[in-house]
Amino acid sequence: MSSNKDFPRRVLSGVQPTGGLHLGNYLGAIKNFVPLQEKFQSLFCVVDLHAITVWQEPKELMSKKCEVAAAFIASGIDPKKSIVFNQSQVAEHLQLAWILNCVARMGWLNRMTQFKDKAGKNKENVSVGLFTYPVLMASDIMIYKATHVPVGEDQKQHLELARDIVQKFNNDFKKNVFPMPEPIIMKSAARIMSLRDGTKKMSKSDISEYSRIMLTDSDDEISKKIKKAKTDAMPLPNSLKELENMPEATNLLTIYAACEDENFELVFNRYQGKNFSELKKDLIDIVINKLSPIRDEMIKLTSDEDYLQKILQSGSLDAKKIATEVLKEVYDVVGLNFSS
Ligand code: ADP
Ligand code: TRP
Repeated sequence: MSSNKDFPRRVLSGVQPTGGLHLGNYLGAIKNFVPLQEKFQSLFCVVDLHAITVWQEPKELMSKKCEVAAAFIASGIDPKKSIVFNQSQVAEHLQLAWILNCVARMGWLNRMTQFKDKAGKNKENVSVGLFTYPVLMASDIMIYKATHVPVGEDQKQHLELARDIVQKFNNDFKKNVFPMPEPIIMKSAARIMSLRDGTKKMSKSDISEYSRIMLTDSDDEISKKIKKAKTDAMPLPNSLKELENMPEATNLLTIYAACEDENFELVFNRYQGKNFSELKKDLIDIVINKLSPIRDEMIKLTSDEDYLQKILQSGSLDAKKIATEVLKEVYDVVGLNFSS
């Protein structure tokens, strides 16, 4: 029953201020936000309420939020074109989240693999917030009636859940209140893997620092990490078929292609049959070329927290204007408003 025709196109995405952004966050998500802001009204959110679903040191949270805002801006998001803001400053996210908690079903949330991964064996002792995390994410999207959501592949299941919530809400209340949010997942860099194990995604929670390249790494660190990246003893294969069983090699080629905006097969053709040392040598230059201007800009921006906080505050006011209207409509539809 829902149709997106009746809604203006609007982009929303969020990144958690959980300490340090890595190449996976950049290539899988942030880099893809930049061209979208030219075409659509866009909102990019620092999702601190998601971050606190696991313990965050209060004294460090503000600087972590500023670091995400700095990464957005250093990567090319223009706060004059897009709304760059902070989730906790727009309380409507939480007000809608409660209503959506009453729409979403336990069975749906029980299927979420990210919760299972993050909770692990500790299921009885993690926060309730970690369980209902995807509902707050649906709320982030729905409070702006966002139609497009650029994310990495690991967030696909959460997006599916948001779509289920939209559909049930619109059905239950017999009104097309929300558009169906469409994921935008860049195939080329949907999932950047660990440099130590090509079957695990690059993640800030990996114990090995050599598994990930951080946006704040120096040229020297980038170079060391790529040199040490796991590879096979044999040279690169001669066919894409053989490459299928070589996750580490595939990952290095994926990073290369994504940084250069090149086709994966073209990059593979260039290096097929060659030694890994040759690929790594070029990859070091390419990654440094891509990341060093972003890192330098991030360092400049994070030295002025007042400036970043001002951007987040002003963005939050703009976001709130949209969110208040949507929440009012929702309260009307659900029957929560007094008649005025
Ligand atoms: P993390 O997953 O590292 O905790 P976030 O949850 O804040 O970081 O994710 C921010 C964005 O980065 C999301 O869109 C997510 O899909 C994307 N992302 C995270 N890790 C990767 C990865 N290894 N490859 C591609 N995209 C990723
Ligand atoms: N859950 C997302 C992640 O871990 C972050 C996020 C929160 C998000 N709210 C969002 C992403 C809304 C897109 C849209 O990466």
